[in-house]
Amino acid sequence: MGSSELDEFVERVNERTDIYSVVSRYVTLNQKSGRYWGRCPFHNEKTASFTVSPDKGFFYCFGCGAGGNAFKFLSLIENISYFEAIKLQAQRLGIDLPARKFSPEEERRRREEKALLKVNELACDFYHDGLTKEARGSEGRKYLAARGITAETIETFKLGFAPEEWDKLLSHLTRQGYSPQQLESAGLVAKRKTAAGFYDRFRGRVMIPIADVFGHVVGFGGRVLHSDDDSTPKYLNTPETALFNKGRLLFGLDKSNREINKAGVAIVVEGYMDAISLFSAGVRNVVATLGTAFTADHAKLILRYAKKIIFCYDSDEAGQRATIRALPIVQAEGAQVFVVKVPDGKDPDEFIRKHGKTAFDELIKHAQTLIDYRMKYVLAHADLSTIEGKVRALQEILPVVAKIEKTVTRNEYSKRIAAALTLDENLVGQEWEKFSRVARQAQPEKKSSAVQRQRLPAVKDTLVRQAGESILRMTWYDNEMLDYVLTAVPREIFTPVHQEIIDWFKTCAAQNIPVNQMNAAKDLSEAANAELSRILINGSDDPRSTELDLFNDAIKVMKLTVLKKKYNEVLAQTEKYIPDDRAAYVEAVQQLFKIKADIDELKGNH
Ligand code: CTP
Ligand code: MN
Repeated sequence: MGSSELDEFVERVNERTDIYSVVSRYVTLNQKSGRYWGRCPFHNEKTASFTVSPDKGFFYCFGCGAGGNAFKFLSLIENISYFEAIKLQAQRLGIDLPARKFSPEEERRRREEKALLKVNELACDFYHDGLTKEARGSEGRKYLAARGITAETIETFKLGFAPEEWDKLLSHLTRQGYSPQQLESAGLVAKRKTAAGFYDRFRGRVMIPIADVFGHVVGFGGRVLHSDDDSTPKYLNTPETALFNKGRLLFGLDKSNREINKAGVAIVVEGYMDAISLFSAGVRNVVATLGTAFTADHAKLILRYAKKIIFCYDSDEAGQRATIRALPIVQAEGAQVFVVKVPDGKDPDEFIRKHGKTAFDELIKHAQTLIDYRMKYVLAHADLSTIEGKVRALQEILPVVAKIEKTVTRNEYSKRIAAALTLDENLVGQEWEKFSRVARQAQPEKKSSAVQRQRLPAVKDTLVRQAGESILRMTWYDNEMLDYVLTAVPREIFTPVHQEIIDWFKTCAAQNIPVNQMNAAKDLSEAANAELSRILINGSDDPRSTELDLFNDAIKVMKLTVLKKKYNEVLAQTEKYIPDDRAAYVEAVQQLFKIKADIDELKGNH
């Protein structure tokens, strides 16, 4: 579709969208003084600090700072992109999306992808029926029952069974018109080695469908029925395909993302069966990796739903090593990381089956912080019988401890380390000094500022910010004010986010772009949009008549800020001229007088 067609579409959706109806689908709103209030869906709160202003078309949360227009709200709450939010709203309003034109190459790729998805879906049905409806599925049913998997769980996860034969799936799907090559590219069949033709990859296994976040099946994990059978791997997975990428998929996320969002935390386990077991026991904010290391992409995927990640890997050596490896990756992505070590039993599946959900919840409640866990891990693996071993352990722990921001906490850990390693506190102190000296070198030195006794007290930052808000609010409603603002107040006085908004106003004026919430959402950064929502929601409906005084005061505050800054700058200069440059000194002092007079005048007619 052409870009004008797209614009028209967006325009139409926007015109018919009312932010109140959009939000009230998700949040109970109460009216109070011309606005609506409710409990913020984006952070946990008891009192309502989330507000919607239908006239202005914005929402804003005074608690967590989320804000924007109706589409921004939808994109946040549904975890979709801004444009997807517009499409979703269009769908709800019954507005058709203009048909998009693709290049032949794009067309081909889309067709192939679609076919691949379809093939996976059909295979999933085939395996599922094979488990639940066919006589030969009894082996699979028995296996799952023995593991405490209920019929309900089998339905939820659409578990299946692949028959112990070479071509059942192959012939089933080729009969429906799919070529063996298509099935091969979906990873469902493989080329025979000795003769022509293909055979089913999965045979005699319990089948676990793996879906993307939207719930489309993109691959499978197949488990053998007898763990004592060493001739074949316990799990066989779909090989890498156009859709199946282990580094980017998390098993269960399609079912758990809502819960993860609600709980604010995701529990990551190692095995399919762990995730299935926890989920069916009622621990629903769980995902599993697919037998690969945890990647930054995995972390990003989870961070779309929650900031906190709890690792709950198997308690054996391999599981603990995998945990240690995952931690820095996740931390680097900005997640808050915790670790649960499952006692008594190898993995979360065994634990919850043995001890129940309450006991597992208790484990989660007492998850260790990343630092505690790493400290314990290093200590458990250290050779404490020699001084070298102890020092090596110390050197491994110090970088972890150095990341702690609070000095008190950091010292506490240093003490604990000394005690745990039975090392002299002084020695720990010395090592610590060495380490932090290196760390400090990376930081710029602070300048010691000479004390200026006669400096004028600067206008408080909050006051300047509020003045900026008032100016922006007025300019939003009355664009003609912009020129006046720009001549009266230098841009640099505004906060960086306010500067972005001012600059946008300028662009709009220059290019004849209407200043409205749709264009703001399109052109401004997320931070600027949230700030704008806050500013507009904070003010009266028509500031042109009610806020003129406020606006004038704001301009004054800004001017005063500039003058005081200038005064202090010149003052600093004057001191440099003493005692050598008398002429320059006198000139500077005269300038000071002049500025002071301007300040007094400004204050006088205040
Ligand atoms: N895995 C794999 N191939 C194997 C063994 C394991 O791909 N041969 C992957 C699977 O994704 C599996 C995960 O590694 O879920 C963790 O392995 P394990 O702890 O053995 O899996 P569980 O889900 O606990 O398996 P089960 O309880 O059925 O033994
Ligand atoms: Mn297991």
